[in-house]
Amino acid sequence: MCGIIGYAGSGNAGEIIYDGLLKLEYRGYDSAGIAVLDGGKCAIVKSAGRVKKLNTSAQLLGGSIGIGHTRWATHGKPDDVNAHPHVCGKIAVVHNGEIENYAELKKSLMDGGDKFLSQTDSEVIPHLINKFYCGDLLEAVIKCASMLKGSYALLAIREGSGEIVAAKNRSPVILGLGENCNFCASDEPALAGKCPRICVLEDGDFAVITKDSATVYNSKKQKINRAVLPNSAKEQSLSLGGYPHYMIKELWEAPAAVKNTVTAFGEVKNAVCSAICGADKIIFTGCGTAYHAALLGKRYFAELAGIPAEAEYAGELRYDKLYAGKNTCLIAVTQSGETADTVEAAILCKKSGATIAAVTNSPHSAITRTADITVPVCAGAEICVAATKSYSAQIAALLSAALALSQNTGLAEELSNAPALISQTLQNLDIYALAEMCARARGVYFMGRGIDYAVALEGSLKLKEVSYIAGGGYPSGELKHGPLALIDGSTLSIFIITDAALSQKSMEAVEQTLSRGGMVAVITTLPHVHKRFERRAEVVTLPECNKYIAPLAAASALQFLAYRVAVILNRDPDKPRNLAKSVTVE
Ligand code: M6R
Repeated sequence: MCGIIGYAGSGNAGEIIYDGLLKLEYRGYDSAGIAVLDGGKCAIVKSAGRVKKLNTSAQLLGGSIGIGHTRWATHGKPDDVNAHPHVCGKIAVVHNGEIENYAELKKSLMDGGDKFLSQTDSEVIPHLINKFYCGDLLEAVIKCASMLKGSYALLAIREGSGEIVAAKNRSPVILGLGENCNFCASDEPALAGKCPRICVLEDGDFAVITKDSATVYNSKKQKINRAVLPNSAKEQSLSLGGYPHYMIKELWEAPAAVKNTVTAFGEVKNAVCSAICGADKIIFTGCGTAYHAALLGKRYFAELAGIPAEAEYAGELRYDKLYAGKNTCLIAVTQSGETADTVEAAILCKKSGATIAAVTNSPHSAITRTADITVPVCAGAEICVAATKSYSAQIAALLSAALALSQNTGLAEELSNAPALISQTLQNLDIYALAEMCARARGVYFMGRGIDYAVALEGSLKLKEVSYIAGGGYPSGELKHGPLALIDGSTLSIFIITDAALSQKSMEAVEQTLSRGGMVAVITTLPHVHKRFERRAEVVTLPECNKYIAPLAAASALQFLAYRVAVILNRDPDKPRNLAKSVTVE
């Protein structure tokens, strides 16, 4: 949700920041901008559209210190004026987050004679810094921050100075520590190949970054120490590696992500078991795809470990006063570890005394600072906005945890073979005809029962997200209670059937849809289901496997389907319209 980067060194700031913005673009891509200090003066380029639009103008910027921004609009449409950096006097600022009290602040600044150019909430920040500036940029930023309500990761520069000042509250900032240069950025990928060490800021921290130093302060302007860590972002893992899109590259990386996650779980197994064992209530939470993984977690814990569990959208849970208590364990699933709703839900539950377990792909993220224990998801950098390998790895982490609690060694053995199952699924997948059907359909509905229902919801989200085709996910049993009214020759219903015990019931729902003249497809691991519908519907067969492992095969198939449809419809699957990878605002 907006990417920010700052650089202070002796290289060309425009080029270095431009490169960093390209790597942060998954956080937002509706406009971008760069400000550099060149000969004491501030030069700015900004534009609506993708970062690439700054390619030529960024090269022309001089100077060796500057800040950049790639935007996901919250306040004000995505145009040139609303693009960051925003300026007041000699101050330029980039901001990620949401200033909740911007309207009051703007009014009082305007009453004092300030003029605003944009519709953004962010523009109040340079105005406040400018107002408070009395020769010390850090002090002015600290005073500004004391006026702000909401979330911010902000970087400020001032004409005539050689420093960047950063401030953080509820939006991520990391410092990158290099030789004769230092950085600040939203995320590690922006710093891949640029510096060997990083330092993660915490809420309430401020930092002053120059070519030679990066110093962290508290709001009283006292220096504080934050741990210095190796920079694990790898340039190589951020490249397309010969693939046309990150989505297809990353879905092929699912086997490795699952393998690494299952291996890593071994190291936290005992700690996870003891954190969860004492709980009399387990709540899974997350947003979007992570919530769909949470739904599977709920089933795995209930059915395999015999521990009753609930799953709730994080955006609902954070406003739900009834839920967590002292003996609750909240299992928060989040790829980025920064999703505002998920982090806030965890904070709320923690305040009520709950134990927090974070299942995350981001070891230095906000959720890990709230959590009592972290279950690692080892998917590596995921650049495509649509989650693929991280979802598979989340499933593997949650299944590993349920199996550890259940002592089910047979299934654990099968899970260790899941990477091969996913590869086999992708290699043998014949989904092209189904992709063509989807691309032609007026609406696409995904149906399943039990575990297959959770997978159907994810299949539906993935397709909507990258193809913009309307549709939904339903439990097969609900079909006759309403959704059947949607069915006609122009709609496609895709049934996921991997649970033999429920297959008879699911097949009845397929019959009900066929008899209403709807287009029907069946994705199944079960030979008898294949046999029954092979001549009457589009059938996609997946390798036979245990129903608890089947979501891993089905997820890869559904991700591949969504990808194919996006390609057929000429959509950009990596950067779907209106979306961003990490949703750090409400
Ligand atoms: O980083 P998180 O896992 O917390 O993100 C949650 C959702 O925003 C995310 O899964 C979203 O739904 C994906 N774009 C779906 O592909």
